[in-house]
Amino acid sequence: MKLNNTTVLITGASSGIGRECAYVFAEAGARLILMARRVERIEAIAVGLRDLYGAEVLCIGCDVRNSSSVFAAIDTLPDAWSSVQVLINNAGLSRGLDKIHEGHLDDWEEMIDTNIKGLLYVSRAVLPGMVQRNSGTVINVASIAGREVYPKGNVYCATKHAARALSEGMRIDVNGTGVRVCNIDPGLVQTEFSEVRFRGDTDRAEKVYEGYTPLHGRDIAEAALYCATRPLHVVIADMLVLPVAQASATIVHKEL
Ligand SMILES: NC(=O)c1ccc[n+]([C@@H]2O[C@H](COP(=O)([O-])OP(=O)(O)OC[C@H]3O[C@@H](n4cnc5c(N)ncnc54)[C@H](OP(=O)(O)O)[C@@H]3O)[C@@H](O)[C@H]2O)c1
Repeated sequence: MKLNNTTVLITGASSGIGRECAYVFAEAGARLILMARRVERIEAIAVGLRDLYGAEVLCIGCDVRNSSSVFAAIDTLPDAWSSVQVLINNAGLSRGLDKIHEGHLDDWEEMIDTNIKGLLYVSRAVLPGMVQRNSGTVINVASIAGREVYPKGNVYCATKHAARALSEGMRIDVNGTGVRVCNIDPGLVQTEFSEVRFRGDTDRAEKVYEGYTPLHGRDIAEAALYCATRPLHVVIADMLVLPVAQASATIVHKEL
């Protein structure tokens, strides 16, 4: 399946995996709707994509936690952009790494609101069009944390278990239409993820990726491209993508 003239909406496109998805899908000929809160970042990425690939790009500043701004953004898409054929639900974050009895309510709420409710709002806004057109691909970026719980990962892991359940639930509910739902579970990817988790403590964040070769955002973007370009009768329902040094959520071979 070719992506020329295919409209792809990427949430969390300002950084990491989402930004790499923008590059990989633009290179494959797609037209892109980039969504994130940091508009200046997605606009800079859009300039690069237009220069490099001649891509058509629309930037939307939106906080996925805010249901009214999500619905307003999707419902007011210009006609030429209103048929989203591929949705990459990638926006997400972790906050903190604390035992549950020492956890911070603000952190929990931010993770639940972004990783579960944000994914739901964007999906609720985009899926009806796909079902009506009887075609479309939803790619949910969950995590290995959606399969395994690791120490102090409690709430983040719970949100990613929820994302995984939502991938399954969506696939069941759109069954009988041509809509495909793919779930991608990355292991350790070097992005701004740990910097966000540790609230700007770059030293602590860098340690997460020391002593082995982590995944690059592009590795996951290429997995997403693979899902989106299968023949229309094929759905890649579930993918776990790890760096070679990672055997499970907690087993990582490091040479320090
Ligand atoms: N890195 C890893 O090791 C790893 C592993 C497994 C799964 N994941 C998942 O992969 C996804 C992407 O993470 P990443 O590693 O690429 O991290 P990242 O570099 O921090 O990127 C996160 C993206 O999510 C966006 N985002 C966060 N909160 C948002 C909100 N409320 N509204 C709209 N956008 C929001 C951010 O954009 P703005 O801040 O500009 O809004 C940013 O573009 C996440 O769902 C994460 O849980 C990551």
